[in-house]
Amino acid sequence: DKGNHRHFMEKEIYEQPEVVSHTLAHYLDFTAGKVRGIASEIDFSSVEALKIAACGTAYYAGQIGKYWLERYARLPVEIDVASEFRYREMPLPGNQAALFVSQSGETADTLASLRYCKEHGLKIGSIVNVPESTIARESDVVFPILAGPEIGVASTKAFTCQLATFAALTIAAGRARGTLIADEETNMVRALSEVPRIASSVLNQIQPPLETLSRDLARYHHVLYLGRGTNYTLAMEGALKLKEISYIHAEGYAAGELKHGPIALIDENMPVIVIAPSDRHFEKTVSNMQEVAARGGRIIFVTDEKGAAASDLETMATIVLPDVDELLMPLIFSLPIQLIAYYTAVFMGTDVDQPRNLAKSVTVE
Ligand code: F6R
Repeated sequence: DKGNHRHFMEKEIYEQPEVVSHTLAHYLDFTAGKVRGIASEIDFSSVEALKIAACGTAYYAGQIGKYWLERYARLPVEIDVASEFRYREMPLPGNQAALFVSQSGETADTLASLRYCKEHGLKIGSIVNVPESTIARESDVVFPILAGPEIGVASTKAFTCQLATFAALTIAAGRARGTLIADEETNMVRALSEVPRIASSVLNQIQPPLETLSRDLARYHHVLYLGRGTNYTLAMEGALKLKEISYIHAEGYAAGELKHGPIALIDENMPVIVIAPSDRHFEKTVSNMQEVAARGGRIIFVTDEKGAAASDLETMATIVLPDVDELLMPLIFSLPIQLIAYYTAVFMGTDVDQPRNLAKSVTVE
């Protein structure tokens, strides 16, 4: 049932404040300001490294998880798309753990990667939405994301619930490894408790500017997304969402890679979506944005209030989100990224919930 929504995808985007609040409450004790025991079912203090494998959007959630686990828990993480992971024949010393991210829990390549790690004696954890799935059944530890059924082929609420789960695991790992002191844990838990409220106010406010923007975007054939840090991952996730439902060719690039090739593509026919809230990468990304502007590129600047105040570049559109703690940025900035793809596809008249050639669950390689 789509309720008042035109598509399941729209419904699932708007459900995110509620489902993410369930995920967070499952893993975090807001009253105590602490992560719950279920987030520590992998003994992060004894593992020397973590391997992650997943596909598509689940892979991008894993990449943000990697950035968080490395930064806050000082845990070395290697991530691969599962179709590569399963055939790389990499050595796997047993003092590592492995984590598999999958909404359906049935993705063939992700399952094969899990089995490879199991054969090598690694402790197996999975972050899944379907707890009866094969990937969940074959894991030693299951971290449910509690997103509820996701019907739209393009993954939205599963992504943010995967991120919420990774945020909790990061705090658990940081505590276990002694890299986060009690105050830091409490601050992170308190910050995360704000996500549902902020997400719902963002969803209420950004619709009009994003619909206007998407009507313009629907006229182009190519779109480039740029970002740094976790916004680099969101750039790739945004490009994936746009291409799969609107069929507009899109690419996500690390902003620092711009001058190593893609800058050659910049002209007035290539809108560039720059995801740059005022985090520690902001100045650098703004200078990449200036390089785009100097070559006649049209910029769509997705930023926060501080970021908008700090730049006076002329843009095709500037989407302004509230200033939030850096840890929350991926959870909040996912929302405009998903909606840009959604509204663009709606303007183009594509089959948003059932895009051509795609299946919700990919059980063959
Ligand atoms: C993108 C999308 C796909 C899936 C991928 C993995 O919007 O939905 O890229 O994320 O096929 O699927 P799961 O998470 O079920 O393993």
